[in-house]
Amino acid sequence: MEAPDARRQDARPGSVEAVWAGIEVCRRCDLWRCGNGVAGEGPAHARLMFVGEQPGDQEEQAKRPFIGPSGKILDKALQEAGVPRSETFVTNAVKHFKHLPRGKRRLHKTPDAGEVVACRWWLDAERRIIRPRVIVALGATAALSVFGKATPIGRFRQQALQLPDQAQGVVTYHPSYLLRVPDAEAKRRAYAMFVDDLRFAWKLAT
Ligand code: URA
Repeated sequence: MEAPDARRQDARPGSVEAVWAGIEVCRRCDLWRCGNGVAGEGPAHARLMFVGEQPGDQEEQAKRPFIGPSGKILDKALQEAGVPRSETFVTNAVKHFKHLPRGKRRLHKTPDAGEVVACRWWLDAERRIIRPRVIVALGATAALSVFGKATPIGRFRQQALQLPDQAQGVVTYHPSYLLRVPDAEAKRRAYAMFVDDLRFAWKLAT
């Protein structure tokens, strides 16, 4: 039997393919029990990287990031902002879908700080491989992972924040937050800010 540490994979992955292969056998935290791992996708040297929280139900099944309800909002906003998704690299802070089974449904559960830190190994690998000019953190969990500390979105959005790896960091809302804003006018405003933030990030990257 394999020793538990054998799949911690301390050798740094050097390609997106190696990240995918590594995530499939990752045991850095317990979330591997939750189903398929989902690494990032996009061109190898995209100028802009998006980092979400974790794959959702549909993403876990399809093994692709941001293809479910949040992905639809992201796609719509990207289109309005004039940002071609095909030229960006889209990934997540945590590569597995943490959830609670509820009958036939799987309810999203926010990853804890330990899981975010454990999975940073993979996000850092993607950052080293892609070397984007700009990294956009979508929501608080992504911001925690990208900046290594809490980075409140309301205070820091629309700013270029210097990251140690030469990239600039940008924070904005998570698309699923836009789905949850209860008041229609507040929802419209939040969505407009989101589109502005995507435009801001793309300008910074190009
Ligand atoms: N939410 C995320 O943060 N990432 C996805 O890939 C899908 C939903």
